[in-house]
Amino acid sequence: MKIAIVGSGNVGTALAKQWRAAGHDVVVAERGSIAESVSPNEVVVLATPAKAAVEVAQQLGDTTGKVIIDVMNIVRGNGPEGYGNTTDAILANTASRDVVKCFNTTGANNMADPVYGTQALDLFVCGDSVRGKQVARQLGLDAGFAEVYDVGGNEHFTLMEQFAWFWINLAMRQGLGREIGFKLLKR
Ligand SMILES: NC(=O)c1ccc[n+]([C@@H]2O[C@H](COP(=O)([O-])OP(=O)(O)OC[C@H]3O[C@@H](n4cnc5c(N)ncnc54)[C@H](OP(=O)(O)O)[C@@H]3O)[C@@H](O)[C@H]2O)c1
Repeated sequence: MKIAIVGSGNVGTALAKQWRAAGHDVVVAERGSIAESVSPNEVVVLATPAKAAVEVAQQLGDTTGKVIIDVMNIVRGNGPEGYGNTTDAILANTASRDVVKCFNTTGANNMADPVYGTQALDLFVCGDSVRGKQVARQLGLDAGFAEVYDVGGNEHFTLMEQFAWFWINLAMRQGLGREIGFKLLKR
């Protein structure tokens, strides 16, 4: 796939590394030329601070037909004004309807390496776009995650951010550290 990542911090760097290793064509967009970087790509990944969600969405250019994957979380209330989560802010400020939330529920360290011993972590995705979820699932598998579970539609964007907080709470506040992650067991 041809992927543009906006945000070259912990998350953007980790995902770019994994997807390039899996054979994808990845460009990391520079501030000031975001629309130019996004234009030739079919998938756009947003990995900036949540506060910048509206500004970044408005700088993407025409996103019609592109899949947008939102990796952002509102941290300590520091998010886009007037929105309860970053994905709603993106949907309200760009043309694409194929906007999904994924990769936000685990640490950037796990995106760089989701393998724990003989097992790999699971991921979660939500959004109304079936196509967006298919693309996010494939990119989750290509990044090395074991499975990407469908959590539901757009109504669950906030739930996904809360689930991220569950990880942050265990990792940072309860002292377990960042080398932890979620895996779903079934029988
Ligand atoms: N870190 C994690 O473990 C983790 C896990 C899951 C989800 N997330 C979420 O993923 C997002 C990114 O986290 P991160 O840790 O990668 O952050 P980070 O290391 O601080 O990187 C943020 C990136 O966004 C860029 N940026 C900031 N404001 C921008 C703007 N207005 N326009 C364009 N680019 C802008 C920054 O560029 P400059 O360097 O030029 O400022 C930087 O490249 C956050 O929303 C976070 O909540 C993080």
